[in-house]
Amino acid sequence: MSWIHSVLFLSLTLRWCLTGESSPEVTDDGAPMEKTEQEALYSAIQGFVGDSWNGSDLYPDPCGWTPIQGVSCDLYGDLWYVTDLTLGLVHENSLSCATSLKIKPQLFKLKHLKSLTFFNCFTSPITIPKEDWINLASNLESLEFRSNPGLIGELPETIGSLTKLKSLVVLENGFNGKFPTSLCNLTRLKRLVLAGNSFTGTIPDCFNGFKDLLILDMSRNSFSGTLPSSIGEMVSLLKLDLSNNHLEGKLPQEIGFLKNLTLLDLRNNRISGGLFENVVKIRSLTDLVLSGNPMGSDDMMGIEWENMGNLVILDLSKMGLRGEIPLGLTSLKRLRFLGLNDNNLTGTVPSKELETLPCLGALYINGNNLSGELEFSRKFYEKMGTRFKASKNPNLCQHVVSEAQQYVVGLRSCMMEKTGGSMMEKTGGSLVIKQTWSNLKKGSMMEQP
Ligand SMILES: *[C@@H]1O[C@H](CO)[C@@H](O)[C@H](O)[C@H]1NC(C)=O
Ligand SMILES: *[C@@H]1O[C@H](CO)[C@@H](O)[C@H](O)[C@H]1NC(C)=O
Ligand SMILES: *[C@@H]1O[C@H](CO)[C@@H](O)[C@H](O)[C@H]1NC(C)=O
Ligand SMILES: *[C@@H]1O[C@H](CO)[C@@H](O)[C@H](O)[C@H]1NC(C)=O
Ligand SMILES: *[C@@H]1O[C@H](CO)[C@@H](O)[C@H](O)[C@H]1NC(C)=O
Repeated sequence: MSWIHSVLFLSLTLRWCLTGESSPEVTDDGAPMEKTEQEALYSAIQGFVGDSWNGSDLYPDPCGWTPIQGVSCDLYGDLWYVTDLTLGLVHENSLSCATSLKIKPQLFKLKHLKSLTFFNCFTSPITIPKEDWINLASNLESLEFRSNPGLIGELPETIGSLTKLKSLVVLENGFNGKFPTSLCNLTRLKRLVLAGNSFTGTIPDCFNGFKDLLILDMSRNSFSGTLPSSIGEMVSLLKLDLSNNHLEGKLPQEIGFLKNLTLLDLRNNRISGGLFENVVKIRSLTDLVLSGNPMGSDDMMGIEWENMGNLVILDLSKMGLRGEIPLGLTSLKRLRFLGLNDNNLTGTVPSKELETLPCLGALYINGNNLSGELEFSRKFYEKMGTRFKASKNPNLCQHVVSEAQQYVVGLRSCMMEKTGGSMMEKTGGSLVIKQTWSNLKKGSMMEQP
């Protein structure tokens, strides 16, 4: 025992003697802890890593000179308490969880816990207990379950009692069931992530209290129904990701109130109205991904794209869009990705104007009914590489500058169309097709969000 700890310990003992308080039993070896706190720590961890793990043997001074990977402590008064606990394989030397593990009630005795994380820990099926969460309510600010395929069943309603939470991350686990309405009480949240589980049911209309929320990610679940209008009350929101669910109906116009929103990802739902009308008021957007929703209307032309000058990523593919490619898009000077593929767009391609976009690095217009001649420069094709696709537009042809360039684009040359030369068709044509296939394969693995 170092002299500083001895002094600490002595002063503690003295104080208790003087005030006559009944003193909790305190460890005197290293950083002083309540004995119950230390035992709760050992026992909780042992539940996760297995009975052969003997904490008191291996880590006699867990908040002092024998720290445990994944455990952090802090001083409250004169005693040390566990404030952060991470279980599972985060680093190579971290405590990995056993296949058959137990969530011991001692975990919930760590009353100063501010942050609790389970990463890659639960692999065999287990449900998390409903009881005891309330014991952590006065301090817990961050609760994370990441990549735990074994976590199944419902997310307990009692998590909603953790009203100090600023971050709740439930990412890529096996949870199912409904969005627990008790989560509506967690109004201090800055981050709420429920992505990559199997949640079902509707999203409750209870976001009016979430004034501090910055990130809401409920992507990759099976949420259905329409989006509630209270979504527009999360005034601080920066990122809203609801992609890959079964949401339908009209997008509430209140979404236009999210004045600070930079990312909106609604791809692969069944939202059918209000997509442009209500979204294109949000001028702060940098990433707008609406692909895979059935628009079934042609009002892309009516949009004042000029107002959306912050856009970097714009994905409007697979939406059944009709009409022409709006020239307004060519004023989006920060645009890096433009996806218009697999729609019903007609008319000519404003090649020259699109080519002036200084940052554009990916352009997909394949799978439409565009016509006329593509007039991009060779330099443009070289810059884009496989991140340019225009194939599957039966009436579109390419102004060929060189043979090499034709391979990249995979369209027939306008020249051929005019001359109809059968020799050229035969030799050039088969090559083009071959090349197109390999480009398609390569292209599909690249950068399309
Ligand atoms: C851990 O080791 C100590 C000392 O070797 C022993 O007294 C104690 O019973 C062990 N605890 C467990 C849970 O195995
Ligand atoms: C939310 O908190 C209030 C008051 O603290 C409580 O009465 C209510 O039951 C909680 N709601 C849910 C769904 O847990
Ligand atoms: C929106 O962002 C601005 C600039 O970052 C910030 O000053 C403002 O407080 C934010 N608004 C809300 C409601 O968070
Ligand atoms: C394009 O429109 C035609 C005719 O209305 C329709 O049959 C087809 O499915 C549409 N294609 C796409 C990709 O939306
Ligand atoms: C494609 O557009 C042409 C007119 O340019 C039209 O005749 C044709 O029916 C369209 N094809 C489809 C599948 O919509």
